[in-house]
Amino acid sequence: MAKHRLSAEKRRLLDFARKEGTPLVLISRDALRRQVARFRKRLPRVVPHYAIKANSHPEIVATMVAEGVNFDVASIAEMTAVLDAGAKPEQIIFANTIKPVDSIRQAAARGVDLMTFDNECELDKIAEHAPGARVLVRICVPNIGSIVELGLKFGVDPSDAISLLIKAYKLGLRPMGLSFHVGSQCLRAENYIEALEIASIIARDAKLKQLPFEIVDIGGGFPVMKSADEEDPFDRMAAVVSAELDRLFEPNLRIIAEPGRFFVGPAVTLITSVVGKAIRENKNWYYLDDGVYGTLSAQVFDHAKFDFQSVRDGATRLCTLAGPTCDSFDIIARGVEMPELDVGDLVYVERIGAYSTASATTFNGMPAAKAVVIP
Ligand SMILES: Cc1ncc(COP(=O)(O)O)c(C=O)c1O
Repeated sequence: MAKHRLSAEKRRLLDFARKEGTPLVLISRDALRRQVARFRKRLPRVVPHYAIKANSHPEIVATMVAEGVNFDVASIAEMTAVLDAGAKPEQIIFANTIKPVDSIRQAAARGVDLMTFDNECELDKIAEHAPGARVLVRICVPNIGSIVELGLKFGVDPSDAISLLIKAYKLGLRPMGLSFHVGSQCLRAENYIEALEIASIIARDAKLKQLPFEIVDIGGGFPVMKSADEEDPFDRMAAVVSAELDRLFEPNLRIIAEPGRFFVGPAVTLITSVVGKAIRENKNWYYLDDGVYGTLSAQVFDHAKFDFQSVRDGATRLCTLAGPTCDSFDIIARGVEMPELDVGDLVYVERIGAYSTASATTFNGMPAAKAVVIP
């Protein structure tokens, strides 16, 4: 490969791969900070709680702590990770509506007292094991068009929200408001608008019933496009959400959010190497050292679509990319445009920070991608 003909970016990736080996994920601290700043600029009223399920790499958590971002955790392991990184208990929301009793107990013992719920059984558990906790009722809202549907398993019908908040009050808990999630990789501002309309009706009703309604949690969902060339709808969606928040809620109502994908998606690049090649069905097949059981598990669990690029330049042909394991399921993508590749050539994927390494396995003994943090 003629090194001098490569772009500066490709040369940089090549240098990293030579130095660190592959599979490799590069985590850009600068990109993380940029996303946080962008969120705060476009949604000035919203206090972000990073949903660490999207990517819990310690340096990502540390960067969020340094930026003063709060956290959404779904388990005691996640809670421990953010507390160990220096977050304060009051910066954390335990946003899993179904929690083991022992997790509720441990959360209370560590001073994490803001939790979500969506059913009576959970309220009884919280009242017994975290007496006096602050609770948000999670309501089910339209997830239309969102790539990852999050309304199937969680969220009470909005018409039942008030009775659950009253029950919370009667149990000695502090019903603080509600939460919702419009579905992950949400491309429709309308989902937020409808959810906020519903939330405002419940907020008004709660006030009439003299419930201490102080927080609306608008969840996550904000999208990341797979390539910088695609039109990014975030700024437009955020402007609509911001205007709706001001129209529907009094200024003293606290608005929080749980962005995961939006913060980490653009901040990570995966670099893989071709470890083998074959011709099947008259097409080139390239076998990479990362696949569907690894970082590209995002394709399975997150329904993600990625842009595969080659460090090598040249005329392209349609090919198939496959992962390194023995399973035929481990076919990454068909019909990908790639130049002719050789063993050792690099294939990379940008914007792969969310729900990728988080769900990667070491099936077949294939090593997890090494993570390197860059400024
Ligand atoms: C409760 C909750 N909050 C926040 C998130 C993060 O969502 P996103 O990555 O779409 O921002 C999720 C994702 O599954 C979730 O389940």
